[in-house]
Amino acid sequence: MKIIDKIYVDGRFTAPHGTATQDLYNPSTGEKIGIVHLGDQIDTDQAIEAAKKAFVTFSKSTVKERGEILQRLHDAILANEEELNKAAVEEYGSPISATKGRTRYAAQIFRDTKAAMESFEFEKQLEYATIVNEPLGIIAAITPWNADYTHICGKLAPAIAAGCTIVIKPSELSALQTQILTECFDQAGVPKGVINIVNGTGPVVGTVLTAHPDIAVVTFTGSTQIGRVIGSKAAETMKRVTLELGGKSPNIILEDADLQKAIPLALAIGFSNSGQACHAGTRILVPESKLEEIKSLIIENMKNIRIGDLWNSESYIGPMVSQKQYDTVQRYIQSGWDQGAEILVGGPGHPEGLGGFYAKPTVFVNVTPEMIIAKEEIFGPVLCVITYKTEEEAITIANDTIYGLSAYISSGDTEKAKQIARQIISGRVLINTAVNRESQSPFGGFKQSGIGRTSWAYGIDEYVEPKVIAV
Ligand code: NAI
Ligand code: MG
Repeated sequence: MKIIDKIYVDGRFTAPHGTATQDLYNPSTGEKIGIVHLGDQIDTDQAIEAAKKAFVTFSKSTVKERGEILQRLHDAILANEEELNKAAVEEYGSPISATKGRTRYAAQIFRDTKAAMESFEFEKQLEYATIVNEPLGIIAAITPWNADYTHICGKLAPAIAAGCTIVIKPSELSALQTQILTECFDQAGVPKGVINIVNGTGPVVGTVLTAHPDIAVVTFTGSTQIGRVIGSKAAETMKRVTLELGGKSPNIILEDADLQKAIPLALAIGFSNSGQACHAGTRILVPESKLEEIKSLIIENMKNIRIGDLWNSESYIGPMVSQKQYDTVQRYIQSGWDQGAEILVGGPGHPEGLGGFYAKPTVFVNVTPEMIIAKEEIFGPVLCVITYKTEEEAITIANDTIYGLSAYISSGDTEKAKQIARQIISGRVLINTAVNRESQSPFGGFKQSGIGRTSWAYGIDEYVEPKVIAV
């Protein structure tokens, strides 16, 4: 049993004033593996105070100094890679190969951000005026449980690059992972008060951060529902918000796609991060004429997707993070069934031989766009196959959602796919691939998938404000 009884404030691990605790579980077994002590309003206020004090000096640091810090943060993560991986497998239930990729990516974020910072225009001289991009102030970062390291690092790196200080409220469900990550930050020799981390719940610590007049920016990743709460609360003190919210991403398989490639790719995209991914391609749009062939290929390819056995590098799907998330997934599977969709693979309950919070990877066919399972973000391994008759109809269905985070197209003709991509309302459209290899890309959503962008210089932009000095 691991006890996390410290928060990180002003460069020190200290016992929180708050007395509430929360149990932590191994989602593969459902067994309790730890307890985290949660911070309260006083802890949050102290963290903000530390960040405010540190901002006075840190906001005047040089690009070179901040580059060295970013480099050390990168190195500290790589130096603790194995321990970070172990915590993510145990506490989150992420299969090892996906875990490794995400830990490496968390380190990479600091390197990428360093490069972006070095070419960032912090100052511009015009004929009669100087434009200075100043650090906005103290950043509040509120992160979810579905990729603890990358979400925290993705919000921290641009804050450092911009010369801002930060108070992070990680998800209360990923405290073991956050603890190791915090130890990495501590080892990196960052000036005290620049990074502060307060474990706690959304309604307590999250609410204080969102309302506090000394916080300049709230950067949040999580559900659209909480994003709305944060956005409206933050408006009272005119904070800038960056919201990275949910998705219901379409994956359009075009008539000319090579189905032998497109179907395994669609399953990989849909079941990414065990379905607990904001960018998962959960609506698979297929030409009606190809439905029967696609159904057979889905059944066939599901046999190659390994569930459980998290330390096996071939495994792709792990458990849901919590009993609550498992129950949510079960409710959606029931809802699909109730509304007349047909279960092609999977269904209710646990996969054979697996307990804990494992849900069966499930693919529904005969899904219509009006069904709840086709509209709402499930955040679990549940995919919908929806048929279309024409490309125009496919585009209409793809855009018929409150979300717009990610989209996918499979086609034998990339030029045609690019034309269709331009008609999809989404922060990104990936063609014949599950990954965007371009590190200089922004990440974020259209519509109710969010506001603002993270990554590269786009992330730094969110944390600076231009000031004009004119003579
Ligand atoms: P959530 O949106 O409730 O929580 C995310 C973070 O916000 C956590 O750190 C939480 O403590 C904090 N929070 C909660 N209430 C808050 C408040 N009033 N003020 C400030 N911060 C607050 O996500 P949850 O409950 O863990 O998952 C629920 C659903 O959200 C999932 O089923 C999924 O659909 C979606 N989700 C989407 C994510 C994404 O990456 N887009 C990530 C996590 C969840
Ligand atoms: Mg919630």
